[in-house]
Amino acid sequence: KKRIVSGVQPTGSIHLGNYLGAIKNWIALQNTYETLFFIVDLHAITLPYDTKELSKATRDTAAIYLACGIDASKASVFVQSHVHAHVELMWLLSSATPIGWLNRMIQFKEKSRKAGDENVGVALLTYPVLMASDILLYQSDFVPVGEDQKQHLELTRELAERVNYLYGGRKWKKLGGRGGAIFKVPEPLIPPAGARVMSLTDGLSKMSKSAPSDQSRINLLDPKDVIANKIKRCKTDSFSALEFDNPERPECNNLLSVYQLVSGKTKEDVAKECQGLNWGSFKPLLTDALIEHLHPIQVSTSSFSFTRVRDS
Ligand code: TYM
Repeated sequence: KKRIVSGVQPTGSIHLGNYLGAIKNWIALQNTYETLFFIVDLHAITLPYDTKELSKATRDTAAIYLACGIDASKASVFVQSHVHAHVELMWLLSSATPIGWLNRMIQFKEKSRKAGDENVGVALLTYPVLMASDILLYQSDFVPVGEDQKQHLELTRELAERVNYLYGGRKWKKLGGRGGAIFKVPEPLIPPAGARVMSLTDGLSKMSKSAPSDQSRINLLDPKDVIANKIKRCKTDSFSALEFDNPERPECNNLLSVYQLVSGKTKEDVAKECQGLNWGSFKPLLTDALIEHLHPIQVSTSSFSFTRVRDS
């Protein structure tokens, strides 16, 4: 069986972007592939954090995985830091990683610009090497992620090729650069819709855990009235009728895509259904579809409660 790995950081609340871009797409893969889904707590300590909160968020994220439909009898679900080999391989990989490759990472540039050099830990720079280790350790074939992880995946692929080239010896050369003498070169799986869910308050920035305003995202565990309120207040435009793929209407495209994904309809059906609607009639539709889709996940999340079993 081909192997799939992916993970989410247990920081802040899991939001609709994490769900539509990643977790939701993992569910179907469990039946066809060997799947490993981890909670990447070691990635979450690359920015300032609170130990108690991190420990709780790690357990809450596991509950969300299961509530979304990850089946622990089919997939391996675990906490990254519990498997020490992730960090061990990271050290080996980091000796083969040129610093320039890491300096070019967009997420590093953005996050370090905000915090300033003196406040940024080295781990923020080496973060993608740990991610590469998460993936290469298991000789993974595919990695289902949202679009913002594309660059990290590209680095993972280049690193696998570099290690194969440097240390793979004749076996690697015989393969003519294909395959992988030491590491398999993994491929990203980026969904056609939902790979980049945008902020509710600005259709040009992605929905993110770190945006200061909670109004900018739908958290998976937001109560009904909060969802309704966020959709009521979300940014729209003054065009009449609704349409996909108009570059002048990023908010419209985003909200229609979200509606498409949570209602389970096709893009064509949504385009047809919504072309005659205005914002006033579309927003309640979207709100209901969101609430209906998230309700079972919310109920199920509260039924999985993990208690702390050890201190380290
Ligand atoms: P993280 O925790 O930032 O995000 C988890 C997953 O959610 C996706 N995502 C989005 N998708 C669509 N729209 C959005 N607005 C949006 N925001 C986030 C991300 O692309 C990701 O798939 N470094 C990774 C975690 C990681 C990992 C790994 C992933 C660590 N090791 C190994 C795969 C394999 C991260 O910080 O994701």
